[in-house]
Amino acid sequence: MPTILITGANGGLGLEFTRQYAADGWRVIACVRDPAKASALKALGGSVEIRTLDVADFAAIDALAADLKGTAIDVLLLNAGLNPQLDAPLAEEADYDAWSDVFRVNTMAPLRMAVAFRDHVAASTRKIVAAISSGGATVSQAKGGNYVYRSSKAALNQCMKGLSKEYAGRGLTIVMLAPGWVRTRMGGPKATFSPEESVTKVRTVIAGLSAEDSGRFINNDGSDCPW
Ligand SMILES: NC(=O)c1ccc[n+]([C@@H]2O[C@H](COP(=O)([O-])OP(=O)(O)OC[C@H]3O[C@@H](n4cnc5c(N)ncnc54)[C@H](OP(=O)(O)O)[C@@H]3O)[C@@H](O)[C@H]2O)c1
Repeated sequence: MPTILITGANGGLGLEFTRQYAADGWRVIACVRDPAKASALKALGGSVEIRTLDVADFAAIDALAADLKGTAIDVLLLNAGLNPQLDAPLAEEADYDAWSDVFRVNTMAPLRMAVAFRDHVAASTRKIVAAISSGGATVSQAKGGNYVYRSSKAALNQCMKGLSKEYAGRGLTIVMLAPGWVRTRMGGPKATFSPEESVTKVRTVIAGLSAEDSGRFINNDGSDCPW
């Protein structure tokens, strides 16, 4: 049975990833900030193992990695994310107070997770680290707005792309995935894809990955997302 660890599994895409991988027979280590509030996750039952993890707490990341020492993790899915300015404000309205928290969760935590769990992933069969990025990270087609969130995801891409080079000798496949615009708490009701549609597509991308894909930034249809 392959194993996946998912951060931010309490709702949105993380919950749907958990549901689909569990239904497919995977062992799912579903990480949430507060298990007491994870009723939808608990209802999935089966092979889902709920762990407490606030990814902004780096000591907690290291402690979980130590606790799971010896566990092979086929897919490390770095999904937890924050986007406090959902209405895509202009530069004048950028929330500078929120920026450091967003950067910690969206950029620093995924790198810390990838480093903390590198041996768990390297010990697995599939050896995949997948960071959920965003089309909004694309610098070459920047259209203005939502500077806080988009800069955090662009920086995430820099970190993960860099790590794919640094860890090239470890046999890991490290990718950044753009899930599309999805109807979650973050994406809102007008978004293009349901969580089920987006996750189905992203899972197909993950299932088709090979070592040659390491370092790619990939859309939910498998095409390259522009940098
Ligand atoms: N929806 C879209 O259109 C879209 C588009 C591109 C990229 N994405 C990315 O997709 C990922 C999932 O987003 P979503 O749409 O599912 O949004 P969501 O419904 O708001 O879910 C975000 C999840 O991240 C968790 N989270 C936030 N801060 C955390 C922390 N410090 N520690 C642990 N978990 C934390 C939340 O936990 P709580 O439930 O405890 O708050 C929640 O489960 C994010 O990385 C997001 O940037 C989404």
